Amino acid sequence: MSKNVVIYPGHFDPFTLGHLNIVQRACRVFGRVVVAVAEESPKKAMFSTEERFSMVQEIFQTNESVEVELLQGLLVDYFKEREGGILLRGIRTVSDFEYEYQMALANKTLDPRVETVFMMTDGAYSYLSSSVIKEIARLGGDVRQMVPANVLKQVEKKYGIK
Ligand code: PNS
Repeated sequence: MSKNVVIYPGHFDPFTLGHLNIVQRACRVFGRVVVAVAEESPKKAMFSTEERFSMVQEIFQTNESVEVELLQGLLVDYFKEREGGILLRGIRTVSDFEYEYQMALANKTLDPRVETVFMMTDGAYSYLSSSVIKEIARLGGDVRQMVPANVLKQVEKKYGIK
């Protein structure tokens, strides 16, 4: 297992300031982070895989500690291709924990070498989720304090805001 590489997977539909906070803190703890953008779209996706991937790439284009990759298929297979690594997930609430715990155990059953590490989301972002952003934006609300600038532009474009 490559101990210094941490894989941070997600759909990032869209990528939020909460996600950014986790990546920045993980860089300080682990040195290098791979953000793995899941290809398979979640239900009611706002953005296509290509859109989600290019937005995340744009955010980290000048950050040498962060790599952005596409996650196709099963997460455990992705780990196999990379010859291991640590799986990083952010946790905001107790309800997150139940889902995350289940996913961590399922991944570990599929491949015992996959170690999941949880990082608590910064308190300032504990209310924030991609779903909350989609809901607010869909109804014409202001999401400026919730997403990086490039994501804000794409969200506004998608919903014809301004
Ligand atoms: O933050 P998200 O969007 O809820 O992330 C979910 C993600 C992408 C980590 C999860 O859906 C995933 O791992 N997808 C890849 C397919 C897979 O391995 N599924 C089984 C997970 S137990």
